[in-house]
Amino acid sequence: MFKFLNPKLPVIWHGGDYNPEQWDPSVWDEDMALMQESRFKVATIGVFSWAKLEPHEGEFDFSWLDEVIEKLSAADRYFILATPSAAAPAWMTQKYPEILRTGSDRVRRLHGNRVNYNLCSPVYRQKSALIARKLAERYGDHPRLLAWHLSNEYGGEDFSPETISAFRDWLKAKYGTIEALNSAYWTTFWSHCYSGWDQLDAPGGPHGEVSIQGLTVDWRRFITDATVDFMLNEAAPLRELSPDIPHTTNLMGTFPGLDYRKFNANLDFASWDSYPGFGGSLDQTSVWISVAFKHDLTRGLSKNGKWMLMECTPNSSNWYETMTAKRPGVHKFEALQAVAHGADGVQYFQWRQSRGSQEQFHGAVVNHGTTNNGRIFGEVKQAGAALDALSNIASTAKRAEVAIIYDWSSRWALDAAVGPVQRDKGYEQTCIDHYRAFWEAGVSVDVIGPDSPLEGYKLVVAPMLYSLSESTSTNLSEYVRAGGTLVSTYLTAWTDENSLVFESGYLAPLRKVFGVWSEEIDALPVGQQVSICTGFDSKAERYSVVDFCELIHPTTSKAIAWYDDEFYAGRPAATVNNYGTGRAYYVGSRNDQRFTNQLMTSIMDDLGIEHLAGELPEGVTRQVRYGDEFEYHFYLNATSLSREVETVGWGTVRLQPWQVEILERKISAGDEEPVLLAATEG
Ligand code: GLA
Repeated sequence: MFKFLNPKLPVIWHGGDYNPEQWDPSVWDEDMALMQESRFKVATIGVFSWAKLEPHEGEFDFSWLDEVIEKLSAADRYFILATPSAAAPAWMTQKYPEILRTGSDRVRRLHGNRVNYNLCSPVYRQKSALIARKLAERYGDHPRLLAWHLSNEYGGEDFSPETISAFRDWLKAKYGTIEALNSAYWTTFWSHCYSGWDQLDAPGGPHGEVSIQGLTVDWRRFITDATVDFMLNEAAPLRELSPDIPHTTNLMGTFPGLDYRKFNANLDFASWDSYPGFGGSLDQTSVWISVAFKHDLTRGLSKNGKWMLMECTPNSSNWYETMTAKRPGVHKFEALQAVAHGADGVQYFQWRQSRGSQEQFHGAVVNHGTTNNGRIFGEVKQAGAALDALSNIASTAKRAEVAIIYDWSSRWALDAAVGPVQRDKGYEQTCIDHYRAFWEAGVSVDVIGPDSPLEGYKLVVAPMLYSLSESTSTNLSEYVRAGGTLVSTYLTAWTDENSLVFESGYLAPLRKVFGVWSEEIDALPVGQQVSICTGFDSKAERYSVVDFCELIHPTTSKAIAWYDDEFYAGRPAATVNNYGTGRAYYVGSRNDQRFTNQLMTSIMDDLGIEHLAGELPEGVTRQVRYGDEFEYHFYLNATSLSREVETVGWGTVRLQPWQVEILERKISAGDEEPVLLAATEG
């Protein structure tokens, strides 16, 4: 819908949460001057302002917000306006206590905290839609309004009577008959059969059912649908009154509670809040790779590839075990890392550090006792200048030949499954470990859903896709048949979408695709390793394996690695199969990173995917954004050491600690050599 996040401000946005209502208006003019100085262009306002906007039921006071918006406009700033539903005013919870959230212990919460509302309360829905309408009526056509920010970090479960009753209706609509539900849930086990819909209840918590995996996963699906419905309810008046203003909501990366792909129904662009934890050392490549994965995941949640980093902190987060201060230059690195992955905006929580309450020590732009003399203010100013220099990048896009599938349903089903280990089965980490192979090779990746269109990708990696719907099975099979290359791992296609093991066993719907059937798994205790090898001669490479060894039988596939230990020594550990005009690899064991990197590199070589595997120094990656005429190569040094990089086309470049070098190249026509135009220091 939009080539830019919003064409009103066709540059990379820089700004953040601005909460002027916490402060005496006498500081607002200083805020404006400091925003100008730090190139903080976009203020997100109203996120938690309900008590100030509607101090008494039905009495609205927009005077302070009018004044703030006037000041922002006069200072040539723009704003994103939030709906305030993440925290209800006290008068409202006092008069309508039923709007409060009920915990899994079935106790209704008291007033306070945030995201503390009953997801299905008719009163809360009516109140949150009304305040959204008032905001749209008053500010919907303001020339400096850039976007609607729906609520704040939707999340969490709710066990209120209204929500449980909506869950029963949801189940009725899904299964039609109680017999169909019983059959999908295998309820004859332990005599858990239901004979009426009103016997069904939310699972989990200290008192609830935890032994029916299908019910657990359905509950998560329902909570997602109920949350999306809550969002659409408050979004409706905004769509009606200001149809040209884009909508977004601040997501939380791989947050396990909600299937973010469903939010796509109301995201004109995606956004997320990134607060990586470092536990003392910022020099942790794995943390930056995990952030990169979440950036690419967020990009894949938007309809058009547009996204922004809605929140990050220029310093530390106060809710980690230790508040590790961000070292000089790290924040600018973080901002440019987001842009390298396609972000068109980098914003903060929050502008001015709060004097009191929950987040009084959370990093902010203007910190306690400082103005423009603070170290962090200086870091933000530098990031602002770097982003300003990239304004021509705002309309460019990422392009990837490789996709990794990240599936909330499989994650939920794996979490609910009792076995093959009781500890975390590591779904998210396994996806990130596969992603790492591409990050280290400087290859851009799209992180997509199991039913996303696959044509156009040369390589699709679907680790641990445990619960497989019919539509996903068709999607993957058709992709390979038509010439695609697919890689999957142990614990793929063990169950259908309701957590029932396929009648003819693991991997059943994809057996022909992989040319493999899977019989059983040997799970290893923590600390135990076995090994696999890629042959049985002196040239064979050996790799270590932890956690999972699936025992597979090739049918039409050929083995590319074998177990080297245990009673299954000599049996295949990984296979490749030709199917249609494509190929499918099945990796049966959880191998070390070296195996994953080498396999991905050899597949990229076969497929002609350009990569820098083995050429980039440790902790350095390359990411590319493409415009119509130019492409931009970002070389990112995610370490505190200086690094020398052999670039593609620009010779050797020395990267200082945390430096990002951005190289601009004219896209050549025909066989012409690319023209190197400029080197911009990030
Ligand atoms: C989240 C919230 C913010 C703030 C920050 C920092 O992203 O949206 O309101 O709480 O975390 O903790």
